[in-house]
Amino acid sequence: METMIPRESLIPRTVKLRLPTWHSRSMTQRIWLGVSCLALLGLVTCATALQLDAQNNLQIPLSQGVSPIKAGESTYDANCSACHGANGKGGRAPRLADSDDIREMKDQEIFAVIQDGIPGTEMTGFPLSKTQISELTAFIRNLNASAYQQNVSGDFAAGEHLFYGAAGCSSCHIIAGRGGLIGPDLSNIGAERSVAQLTEAIRNPGATPRYRHVRALTHSGQIVDGVMKNDSTYSIQILDLRGIYHLLLKSDLQEIVYYKESLMPPSTLPEKDFQKLLAYLSRQVVQMGANPRKEPEERIY
Ligand code: HEC
Ligand code: HEC
Repeated sequence: METMIPRESLIPRTVKLRLPTWHSRSMTQRIWLGVSCLALLGLVTCATALQLDAQNNLQIPLSQGVSPIKAGESTYDANCSACHGANGKGGRAPRLADSDDIREMKDQEIFAVIQDGIPGTEMTGFPLSKTQISELTAFIRNLNASAYQQNVSGDFAAGEHLFYGAAGCSSCHIIAGRGGLIGPDLSNIGAERSVAQLTEAIRNPGATPRYRHVRALTHSGQIVDGVMKNDSTYSIQILDLRGIYHLLLKSDLQEIVYYKESLMPPSTLPEKDFQKLLAYLSRQVVQMGANPRKEPEERIY
């Protein structure tokens, strides 16, 4: 039994309101409407002056007449790029663009790091104004937009069709309860990764230890090929490509091969299909913000 919720149903539909037209109102109504409009205009201007950026959450006045992201960029170029690289791509200091760490940080946390620094590291606090730090935060946040926020164009319904059909993705990946278990669950991938990361993951799969491809050969000649789910001194657990778990004792094995390459085949989809798939994946969001699928500690062999 499939429990697929159509994603589109989560997107609010526009509601058409039937408003009375200007001419259908009486004179007093028109005057009152005019006054309220002016009051509203005043409020909007106030709010813009304060720029209580909804995403920013910092409630700090921003510079006038320039977008906070642009203002943040100039402050960044002057103070931060020497260590963090142009556009936050990294250098002497960690990358600030497209970083899973940053995507998990709250605005307040990014703000605090810039203001107070990280004790015992080269990252010292910066004597910048609250406004400048707030703009820097907006700039850094913008370098970490998730695929969902990037508004990927393309026919996502066709992308879903490819995912569950010709492209073969669902044999290994599950979305909203439907699909295979060999690869990671992609139900929230639109919030967790950027378009660049998704593109890289699909075009150029890199094995992560958690999804290491292994093949075991038993003394009796049985071959078990799949993903290593658990590995201890005495036993190994493998999820094979048909989705069956095997618990094998090491003493029963002739050989175990740990592959460096990913189990995921690099995609050979033509560009137009790739775009559809990206459009589909970027819309897979269960929870924005914090990454609910934090990988466990990696073990090095
Ligand atoms: C002298 C080099 C240097 C400069 C200049 C510098 N940083 Fe850093 N920054 C670092 C280092 C090194 C770290 C990593 C510290 C650690 O080990 O946790 C860091 C960490 C950070 C982090 C946390 C990153 C993470 O993944 O947790 C943020 C945010 C940050 N810096 C922002 C800024 C901003 C904004 C500026 C400019 C106002 C700036 N930095 C200037 C060296 C620098
Ligand atoms: C044979 C199994 C298999 C198939 C088929 C497969 N994948 Fe994967 N995929 C994996 C595994 C295993 C990983 C874990 C990372 C690694 O090993 O590279 C992964 C990782 C990913 C990631 C990165 C997830 C993350 O958390 O960053 C994305 C995105 C992805 N696959 C999308 C796709 C798409 C789209 C297709 C179809 C075109 C596909 N995969 C087909 C096994 C598969």
